[in-house]
Amino acid sequence: MNRLVVANWKMNMTGTQAFAFLDDFLAQPLPDGIDVAIAPPFTAIAQVGYRLRGSGIALAGQDMYWEQSGAFTGEISPPMLTDAGCTYVILGHSERRQYFGETDEGVNRKVRAALANGLTPIVCVGETGAERDAGEALARVIAQTRAALDGLGRDGASKVVMAYEPLWAIGTGKNCDADDADATMGAIRASVDGLQNVRILYGGSVKVENVAAYARKPNINGGLVGGASLDPAAFTALIRAVTQGT
Ligand code: PGA
Repeated sequence: MNRLVVANWKMNMTGTQAFAFLDDFLAQPLPDGIDVAIAPPFTAIAQVGYRLRGSGIALAGQDMYWEQSGAFTGEISPPMLTDAGCTYVILGHSERRQYFGETDEGVNRKVRAALANGLTPIVCVGETGAERDAGEALARVIAQTRAALDGLGRDGASKVVMAYEPLWAIGTGKNCDADDADATMGAIRASVDGLQNVRILYGGSVKVENVAAYARKPNINGGLVGGASLDPAAFTALIRAVTQGT
């Protein structure tokens, strides 16, 4: 199974900036045997998708709604993502849960809609610093995983990508120790029938300096990268470091 590195641009990059990034990034040779995806903001997604055609780099949505179309002002549907060229969609990111009222039930509906539309969901789970300090980290991420995949069955669960992103590590520069992350991700893998062979990504202050340590761990199959994916040279170096670490 190839490792997967996903650039989560969050609310960064205008269309113009995205094109400048791609001019640089697509000129760099990338190592074989690693899958890469970019999740731009929705305003740039169709343009970026067009530019990525034939490049071998996949396109991902940062979120979506579960309905196919209709009167849902401000939302994006699964067919809109597939039409733009997406093969992945990030769901349940902690920033959606924290700031925009995303619930476990909503994540579950979105995961089902993604699979029904041929999109691979990248399902994010993670504990807060307070939950970790209280010794509740494992229980929290396992509960989130089970809720997100509820009712999918073994076959459905085997089609997702999971991402473990401890909230206290996102955008803080305080990345999770690789052994700790590996143990938690092993517990996520064991928590639902069907997850045994899926890819589980680590996210939270991943950088070129620390990514190889994660890539060596048996339960870590890649990274979900925010800040370090915004600069083409830094992101290219990070992708190369993943393969060098293994
Ligand atoms: P970060 O973000 O790499 O900036 O910590 C990761 C994420 O939230 O996906």
